[in-house]
Amino acid sequence: MKKSLILALLLTGCATPGSEAVKPDPKQVDEMRATAKTLATQLGGKLKQEIEANGPASAVGVCKKIAPQIAADLSKQTGWKVGRVGTRARNPESGTPDEWNARALAVFAERMKKGEKPDAMELAEVVTAPSGQSYLRYAKAIAIQPMCVTCHGLPKDIPEDVKARLQAEYPMDKATGYRVGDLRGAVVIMRPL
Ligand code: HEC
Repeated sequence: MKKSLILALLLTGCATPGSEAVKPDPKQVDEMRATAKTLATQLGGKLKQEIEANGPASAVGVCKKIAPQIAADLSKQTGWKVGRVGTRARNPESGTPDEWNARALAVFAERMKKGEKPDAMELAEVVTAPSGQSYLRYAKAIAIQPMCVTCHGLPKDIPEDVKARLQAEYPMDKATGYRVGDLRGAVVIMRPL
C-alpha cells in the first residue's frame, strides 16, 4: 500500500509541468498547421488533375517531381523544413522519418488503435538539438483515401502500368499494401525558434 503510494507520487512528480518542457506557442502551431494544409491541398489538387488528364501511371512521374517541389517552395517561403514522411517510405531519402517523426507516427498509430480518426491528429513539441538550437517540431497525420490506393494499395488495387512505373522509379518502394483509412504517414515541419 505504502509502496504504491510512493510510486504514484513519483509518477505524478515526473509529469509535473514546468520542468524542462517548453510549451509550443499556439499561434506558431496554427501557422504550421496552415502550411501543412497548403502542402496537402496543393499536392492533392495536382495529383487529381494529372490522374484525370493522363492516368495514374503518368501521375507517378508528376508526383516524383511535384511533391518535393511543393515541399521545397514552402520551406523557402517559411524558412522551415517542410516535408512528408511515410510509415513505410516510397522515397527512402525524403520519406524516411527521423527519430522525432517516427515517434509522432507511433503516437498517431496508438491513438488510432483507441478509435481516434487520423484526419485531425497532430503533434507539436519544442525540442532542443545537441547544438543548443531549439526547434518547434510539428507532425500532421496523413490517412489513406480511396484515390491513394491506386499507387499505395494492395496488389489488386494497383494497375499493372502503375506497378511497372513504380518499380522503375522507386526500386526501394515500401509504400504499398495500404487500405483506405490506414495511417500513411505525416506532413512534418521543423521550425527553428
Ligand atoms: C499517382 C500515384 C500516387 C497516388 C495516387 C498517390 N501517391 Fe503518394 N506517392 C507517390 C509517389 C511517386 C511518391 C514518392 C514521391 C517522392 O519521390 O517524393 C509518393 C509519396 C508519398 C508520401 C511521402 C512518403 C514516402 O513514402 O516517400 C506520402 C505521405 C504519400 N505519398 C501519401 C499519399 C496519399 C495520402 C495519397 C492519396 C491522397 C497518395 N499518396 C496518392 C505516388 C502516388
